[in-house]
Amino acid sequence: MTPARHLPDGFLWGASTAAHQIEGNNTNSDWWLFEHTENPYIKEPSGDACDSYHRWPEDMDLLAELGFTDYRFSIEWARIEPAPGEFSQAAIAHYRRMVEGAHERGLRPLVTLHHFTAPRWFMERGGWASAGSDELFARYLTAAAPVYATDVTYACTINEPNMLTSMATLQKAHLAGSQIPTFGPTVPDGATTEALLRAHGRAVETVKSIAPHVRCGWSIANQVYQPLPGAEDVAAAVRYPREDVFLEAARGDDWLGVQSYTRTRVGHDGPLPAPPEVEHTLMGWEYYPRALGEALRHSAAVAPGVPLIVTENGIATADDTRRIHYTADALDSLADAMDDGVDVRGYFHWSALDNYEWGRYTPTFGLIAVDRETFARTPKASAAWLGATGRTRTLPLAPRSKQTT
Ligand code: BGC
Repeated sequence: MTPARHLPDGFLWGASTAAHQIEGNNTNSDWWLFEHTENPYIKEPSGDACDSYHRWPEDMDLLAELGFTDYRFSIEWARIEPAPGEFSQAAIAHYRRMVEGAHERGLRPLVTLHHFTAPRWFMERGGWASAGSDELFARYLTAAAPVYATDVTYACTINEPNMLTSMATLQKAHLAGSQIPTFGPTVPDGATTEALLRAHGRAVETVKSIAPHVRCGWSIANQVYQPLPGAEDVAAAVRYPREDVFLEAARGDDWLGVQSYTRTRVGHDGPLPAPPEVEHTLMGWEYYPRALGEALRHSAAVAPGVPLIVTENGIATADDTRRIHYTADALDSLADAMDDGVDVRGYFHWSALDNYEWGRYTPTFGLIAVDRETFARTPKASAAWLGATGRTRTLPLAPRSKQTT
């Protein structure tokens, strides 16, 4: 039996969402356009999603009632700046109400400023890799200042730049009419990587020039690359452009977001798909909860001294008991890392709601189920189990689950 583990004072305890995945009808975004073009990734468009653009008070009520003390959500550039240089005061006021609404319910907001989606016009002018993208990002953040200038302690500049840079490669292949690999070592787009590194720097500068108290960081998808014997050099070469270059860029930041779901084994020819004999989640990923502890240790090693916040961790499953098992083991690995001196300041579960998983609704990551017709929210057992920690400040335990080694 694992002993009870108490959370340090101030530890953030929340759930995460992203605007495009829950708001619905994000029609002015590049993803909406992508969802309505012929391509192998899209099984269904996002449509109304969870209608959280209107139902966010209900989402926040539920999270607070469940015991969470923090909520990570994103603001949508495509709504705030529908045309270049034209800003919607109504959209800015909307997100400001969310910040205030969170506090009214006892939730501290962690605000993500960019979570995968951008305005169509930004994509049409060449996206991140085109000249001046960092300037445009900074201009949007200046206009959006009323959202975060007060009552926001943590801002995430860009969610998973390492996924964005791989998506840029796929997008280019799609536009060029080439075959898109469904699994494989997608080569990050170098120009996009450079641009994202610049954009992060500019974003930190911009936010801090407006609101010096805001603690800025970004969130990196941690793949927990594990080399097979003899493939250590291959793993290092795979890891650097896909992960470490972004972790290194966090060295001067106030905090670093760790996002972990599974591990990736690396053979002599590069990353390997999860073998058929292991348990797979609804994403096809290996069930490997202790990835979280490994992700935290790796992030701490590459960005020493930077406080870490788990900004995403969770599992796509239709079996909520399995979600509890997964999360309990993940949290156990987090606690082990903290016992070994890794400086972790918070945990946000992905996701608050069953939401749009970038092309389809079937991989359900939510603590709260959402009826696709009526949008009725129903918290799952895992939501009450995980939320209660907000009150007890003691990590929850579950029956030890089967662990692949
Ligand atoms: C992203 C989320 C996504 C989740 C599960 C992360 O890559 O930030 O938007 O839904 O993982 O795939």
